[in-house]
Amino acid sequence: MALINENYFKLKAGYLFPEIGRRVKEFSDSNPDRKIIRMGIGDVTQPLVSSVLKAFHEGVDELGKAETFKGYGPEQGYAFLREAIAKNDYQNRGINISADDIFISDGSKCDTGNIQEIFGFNNKVAICDPVYPVYADTTVMSGKTGKSSEIGYFEGIIYMPCTEENHFVPELPKQKADLIFLCYPNNPTGTVATKEELKKWVDYAIENKSIILYDAAYEAFIVDESIPRSIYEIEGAEKVAIEFRSFSKTAGFTGTRCAFTVVPGSLVAFDADGKEHPVKPLWNRRQSTKFNGVSYPVQKAAAAIYTEEGKKEVKKIINYYLENASIMKQKLLEAGFTVFGGENAPYVWVKTKNNMSSWDFFDKILKEAGVVGTPGSGFGPSGEGYFRFSAFADRENVIEAMNKIQKLFQ
Ligand code: MLT
Repeated sequence: MALINENYFKLKAGYLFPEIGRRVKEFSDSNPDRKIIRMGIGDVTQPLVSSVLKAFHEGVDELGKAETFKGYGPEQGYAFLREAIAKNDYQNRGINISADDIFISDGSKCDTGNIQEIFGFNNKVAICDPVYPVYADTTVMSGKTGKSSEIGYFEGIIYMPCTEENHFVPELPKQKADLIFLCYPNNPTGTVATKEELKKWVDYAIENKSIILYDAAYEAFIVDESIPRSIYEIEGAEKVAIEFRSFSKTAGFTGTRCAFTVVPGSLVAFDADGKEHPVKPLWNRRQSTKFNGVSYPVQKAAAAIYTEEGKKEVKKIINYYLENASIMKQKLLEAGFTVFGGENAPYVWVKTKNNMSSWDFFDKILKEAGVVGTPGSGFGPSGEGYFRFSAFADRENVIEAMNKIQKLFQ
């Protein structure tokens, strides 16, 4: 008799974004003439920049010639990409991360979920509320939790509420946490963490022998020079943190797929006898067994963002989305909303009006304005009463959507 992984039964029926897609489809099927502006899932709209596209084509052409054809690539990623990342994202910024600490993958979504495999079942996992739902869902799937409570908290997870009162940066947990998911710039609140705030977490992890799983997928949107773009800007972090980064939002790779995870050689975890072990060989073992790498043309395309031309082109796109976020923030403030984020991040976090629930707000703006966003409660119970707008949209749609919302709530 084949037994299933019953942990899946503990989860809500559907993952957040497909559920939004389902509701939007239902609405558009019964209102085929209505225009719908999508600012829900953070999916890029601007095409790949020309230096990336050129490298991509070259990569494909190389595969078509016997002299340059490539079969399986290294499971960890090609050296040319790992070296470009180490140099540009870390070493040039004074951070001691080397190419062999970097593992290329097909997405931070996969890596933030898969990473749990190399850690034991008895780890206490701490997760912000609200936050990107993958961290909690994959913790449940991996069997580290009990059932969900009435409000949606799973037994066994340490939840760290992020609220207006703590400026959406959580307090240190009272209970001892072994694995701590942090995400900055934050998805969904669009808030950032200062050096002082991150230092508090690194010190906590050092003291408690914990590991921080730091999702920095949106670091490219940080414009304030005083805000850390990497957890490794904090002294000691290379001993207690894994960092996840992605080309998805930085360079429009949501469809193309390319990301990377940094597991420094000095990062350690412990066995049941308290003996320390480096984590990097375990992740390497996991990846070389279960993953055959990202395709060569995609890695070649990703490396192009580190050329002089690529850097300029990518910056222009990031600025375009940041400008969208700024327009959205301004228009929502004018409409009388309380608004957070949207300054060093592509997400704008809004408090609904008149204590409306997140899903009621979703239905209202979908049906009455044809605008799709993401209900805050989908990111965790503390997101109830809030709503997330994504700045990954075309400018004219951003303006049209915000004008419609202003009209709706005047
Ligand atoms: C989001 O909208 O939160 C993200 O696009 C989802 C993702 O990156 O997987």
